[in-house]
Amino acid sequence: MNDSTERTLDDRTLAGRVALVTGSGQGIGREIARSLATAGARVVVADRNRETGSAVASELGGLFVELDVTNSGGVRGAVESIAADLGRIDILVNNAGISWGERPETMPLEKWQRVLDTNLTGAFLFAQAAGRIMLEARRGSIINVASVAGLRSAVHGPHYAGYAASKAGLMGLTRELAAAWGPHGIRVNAIAPGFFHSRLADAVIEHVEPQIKARNPIPRVGASGELKGLALLLASDASSYITGQIIAVDGGATIV
Ligand code: NAI
Repeated sequence: MNDSTERTLDDRTLAGRVALVTGSGQGIGREIARSLATAGARVVVADRNRETGSAVASELGGLFVELDVTNSGGVRGAVESIAADLGRIDILVNNAGISWGERPETMPLEKWQRVLDTNLTGAFLFAQAAGRIMLEARRGSIINVASVAGLRSAVHGPHYAGYAASKAGLMGLTRELAAAWGPHGIRVNAIAPGFFHSRLADAVIEHVEPQIKARNPIPRVGASGELKGLALLLASDASSYITGQIIAVDGGATIV
């Protein structure tokens, strides 16, 4: 429930809230950070890229924290100092992510490990650190940016075992955290995007776009702006009875 018991989505929906968005210096994270800021949240951009991260933070009148999500001490210290400085953390979006394409039989162990460390362990570290703050406040919303790669695989690729495993793992983590923390006022959900143009996805999109056009119910790649509505919904009290869910934003790709 928000302070005014309103459940609408407008430019006051997140007024007074603090939202921490990892990997929001560009791409999907930046889109989500912008949407939360537009709804009134104070946004903290956490990214390993100082140039892009600080640019987005200053655009949004928010704060920038330079860190690598795989650094457990760094994550914990950053979350604690954000909570101390701003007094609260209401929303955490675990968006930072990387991928490595390679057939499973030749996947280098260090690439597998780096992807798992970033996409899954990084999200756990942030959820644990922010969850401790949220448990004290008895409120919070955590949104994990998973992927349709955690729901399905394709015979003709893309093949990215670490990425697929990390995103499926993130879905399990979403349910587990939702179950553990639901009674304490914290909701945890995941967004599973289909394909959206970004630095991470463009090489794969080149390969899969013909299939998307041939078989998706909505026969195109996702457009800029098509993820922010769900992120705002899940961040806000308009979704106060939704937890533990994995919601695909994929033009229907996973139903056919
Ligand atoms: P991107 O490569 O444009 O952005 C990723 C951001 O995360 C960058 O700002 C980067 O600096 C940051 N980052 C990466 N590793 C980090 C680390 N160790 N510590 C701190 N920051 C780190 O990629 P995109 O596409 O915006 O991806 C965002 C999320 O969306 C990822 O979790 C990705 O798996 C997911 N996703 C993307 C899809 C797409 O089609 N673009 C589809 C499905 C999921």
